Amino acid sequence: MNYITAAIAFFYLSKKILQPKTRVVHNLKKLFTAFGLALISWVCTLATVLIVAAFVSVIGRSLSWYTHFYVSVFLYGTAAAAKLILVHTLAKKLLYKNMNEQYPGDIFFDASLMIWTVALAVITHLGLCSAFICAFWVAFPLLTKLMIHKEFSQKGATMKFVMMYMLGMFVPYLYTMYLSWTVFEMFTPIMGRSGSEIPPDAVLAGLIVVTTIILSSYFINFIYLVKSTKTTLITLAAMFVVTLILVCSGIFFPYSSDEANPKPKRVFLQHVSRRFHDLDGNVVKSDSGIWINGFDYNGISHITPHVPEINDTIRTPCEEQAPFCGLPWILPVHFMFRKNWYLPAPEIVPRNPIHFKVLSKELTPRNSLRLSFEVSGPSHMSLYVRPHEGSALSTWSLGDGTPVASVGGDYFVFYSHGLQASPWHFWVELTAPEKHSHGVVSLAIAAHYFFGEDQKSPQLYALLERLPNWTFSSGWSCTYDLFVF
Ligand SMILES: *[C@@H]1O[C@H](CO)[C@@H](O)[C@H](O)[C@H]1NC(C)=O
Repeated sequence: MNYITAAIAFFYLSKKILQPKTRVVHNLKKLFTAFGLALISWVCTLATVLIVAAFVSVIGRSLSWYTHFYVSVFLYGTAAAAKLILVHTLAKKLLYKNMNEQYPGDIFFDASLMIWTVALAVITHLGLCSAFICAFWVAFPLLTKLMIHKEFSQKGATMKFVMMYMLGMFVPYLYTMYLSWTVFEMFTPIMGRSGSEIPPDAVLAGLIVVTTIILSSYFINFIYLVKSTKTTLITLAAMFVVTLILVCSGIFFPYSSDEANPKPKRVFLQHVSRRFHDLDGNVVKSDSGIWINGFDYNGISHITPHVPEINDTIRTPCEEQAPFCGLPWILPVHFMFRKNWYLPAPEIVPRNPIHFKVLSKELTPRNSLRLSFEVSGPSHMSLYVRPHEGSALSTWSLGDGTPVASVGGDYFVFYSHGLQASPWHFWVELTAPEKHSHGVVSLAIAAHYFFGEDQKSPQLYALLERLPNWTFSSGWSCTYDLFVF
């Protein structure tokens, strides 16, 4: 069905191009000029809207649409629509000045039809089922066009023509709006936990630009049919400017504790005690504190007014020589959460501490070093491994024996067991260089107390109590030990 639809559309387009047989080259040139203009308008629109998104992110007003979704439509949607219209208005003034307005209107319809038809053929050829969306955007407009062609060529863009055109676009339009709604419903919550590195406004702005381009594809031709776009442009620009000013003023608070429509700020607070051991087993550094991860791009900036000691003076420094910056991650996602905070706090002394034992260190016949360990501790533990320069983790007793590195090259293992489990035994095998005076591998283990009497220290309880009600926090204690072998 997709191929038949595409074939009919190609037939329609080639018939139009071949119409006055003497002017084939001229017709082709016109069609591709319109196509080029469409491309230029997309790029210009994307660039403009991304600049707005970058500005909003830089001044610290990210996620202003997290609770109030319509803000994003009024901010990025109006900017996208205005820019699209502006580019085509300029094109109309500069390139299609002396033409009968029906002609460019027709050409831009054909250009949109061509783009959707090519997309339909390519996506169908790739075997992707979502090609049916393109089929909607080919079949309905083409059918509409064929039905109202007479009206248009005889009387031009009359009211009847416009009404029938709108009616013809209704089904693909409604369906695409429904799909876009689903995409936004899905991505908005995700942007609330997408880490400190990806600006959520840029992602959402990009989605809005794509939606605007799709929804406007068969309405661009109207820009060439109407007398003036001035009123539309001024209205859109005014709406954009007012929304931008309101967003910059911070009137749209991102988070909400409304139970019917909760938009929480997610935070993790881990009360950590860390010990860093050297090659001889001596503790060379130790500290403890409450390690704070804000899950979104805004970090802790909205929490600071409520809890002043959580501010940017306590950003966690990265322990460069330790795997994953020397912090007790429960997932290897440090590359998405580079900004986090470490509030000094007293040491924790769990009732059920971790016991970490080296059972053996042996040189295998293959001339690699095998280290065997025994670990007992709470039900959830994580292991972090970084082979030193020149050495490599060749195999281990975990999984299928082939270690797979995380982003950044360190190795991450999350281990959990039942309450009555026997100690965890595992080994790692490293190929080592001849000279290794600074050790072959750094290996760290963290114990997570997710429940029970060791879960929350008094300091952690007190801090969690003080967080505002629009936060959703998780708090637990952990110990972290780094060893070098
Ligand atoms: C920032 O945090 C530090 C340490 O938590 C605290 O000493 C300082 O007073 C805080 N600054 C402000 C302006 O609240």
